[in-house]
Amino acid sequence: MYNRNNSNKDCLAFARMLNTDLASEISAITEYTYGSVVFNDCEEELSKLFGKIAATEMHHFRTLSELIFSLGGNPSLNTSLHTHHSDMGADCSHRQNGCVRRFLCDSIRDEISANARYLKLAECAPTECAADILRNIANDEAQHVKLLQSALTGYGRYGGCGGCGGCGGCDEKTF
Ligand SMILES: [Fe+2]
Ligand SMILES: [Fe+2]
Repeated sequence: MYNRNNSNKDCLAFARMLNTDLASEISAITEYTYGSVVFNDCEEELSKLFGKIAATEMHHFRTLSELIFSLGGNPSLNTSLHTHHSDMGADCSHRQNGCVRRFLCDSIRDEISANARYLKLAECAPTECAADILRNIANDEAQHVKLLQSALTGYGRYGGCGGCGGCGGCDEKTF
């Protein structure tokens, strides 16, 4: 798909920078897969949405890996845990409290951040092809923001989480 470029130092430096984003995509895949699994029996529509977004994040992971390789880099990954959902541990406290709302809020924040990051990367990409790829990923992340915001609005309309107190005041008006 891509011609590998080993000769350009700018390309190599940029490729190394993208390895951080590779880790972020893995984090997104695991978090949305988690949401899809644990909310499957109580929030079926949201579970399906999370599953679809997880598949898109997997596509981003593949695309970024190919881009890194084409720029002369090594699409390797530091697999140390870096998820911020520390309260979504072994006891599934999120799910027990029914706090889908907080999951949605956290995800929206992450997607907004990812969209901004990819747009910024596209601006300093060493080739126009790389910039196009990064803008496409940014567009996907923007689409995820819209889907999740819509889900959050719908969720509030039919009752929300019932106030587990874990949301810390999360509010869709923030976004
Ligand atoms: Fe992504
Ligand atoms: Fe996303």
